Amino acid sequence: MSILEVRSLVAGYEPGLAIVKGASVHAEAGEIVVLLGPNGAGKSSLIKAIAGIVPISGGEVWLEGEDITAVPAHQKIRRGLAFVPQTENIFPLMTVAENLAVCGGILPRAEVAGRMDEMFQTFPDLARQRHRAAGSLSGGQRQMLAVARALLVRPRVLMLDEPSAGLSPKLVGEVFANLQAIRERGVTILLVEQNARAALAIGDRAYVLVEGRAAHEAPATGLMDDPLIAELYLGHRKEAS
Ligand SMILES: Nc1ncnc2c1ncn2[C@@H]1O[C@H](COP(=O)(O)OP(=O)(O)O)[C@@H](O)[C@H]1O
Ligand SMILES: [Mg+2]
Repeated sequence: MSILEVRSLVAGYEPGLAIVKGASVHAEAGEIVVLLGPNGAGKSSLIKAIAGIVPISGGEVWLEGEDITAVPAHQKIRRGLAFVPQTENIFPLMTVAENLAVCGGILPRAEVAGRMDEMFQTFPDLARQRHRAAGSLSGGQRQMLAVARALLVRPRVLMLDEPSAGLSPKLVGEVFANLQAIRERGVTILLVEQNARAALAIGDRAYVLVEGRAAHEAPATGLMDDPLIAELYLGHRKEAS
């Protein structure tokens, strides 16, 4: 049984106007699954629908053998499904510590301080800046804070929407190294990325989403060289050499 299974999902922002049009994807425990696809393919809409933020009108989402299709977003977090949106994923006017503390709201009170300490051990950069306003952090540190906020409640599955967007190559490397370390600790990751090469380097399996559907599924290794991917994802047919 897959830890996360999405079956023929249909979702969109307005009734009768599907953006996600029957997408089926799954993640096995401990996997890093990468979602690629051209701009506007519906990658963000798909993970937002899985997270419970975009209304679902068809299909199913199963987490650890339970049907969570109709579970509201805040309850999905309690069930172990965490989501880091691409933007507005921290509170800029709050300190780093406050950003973590508000996420601890769904944990038993006695556990919050301990979990925050664990996050500060995992992300020493954040520990050093715990009393600074989150909005004054660098782009890479903000992404780390957004990830730390999601991890605070010990999710089983972590979904991220383009965590490397807008970061320098060095910071991209740091964020992706962090994701690998998070997976080592047993968290399953569903990663939407424009940076296909970097994502496939840490991923196990990938889907290419085209027009709201998972058009292609393959092991991450070697996928960049697949001519079908060049056509679907890069939007042109790779010339035979
Ligand atoms: N908040 C929204 N309201 C209405 N339509 C949206 C909204 N967000 C995205 N869309 C539409 O959904 C389609 C897919 O967008 P998106 O899921 O962001 O694709 P991707 O993440 O693959 O670039 C686009 O046509 C986009 O215009
Ligand atoms: Mg997107």
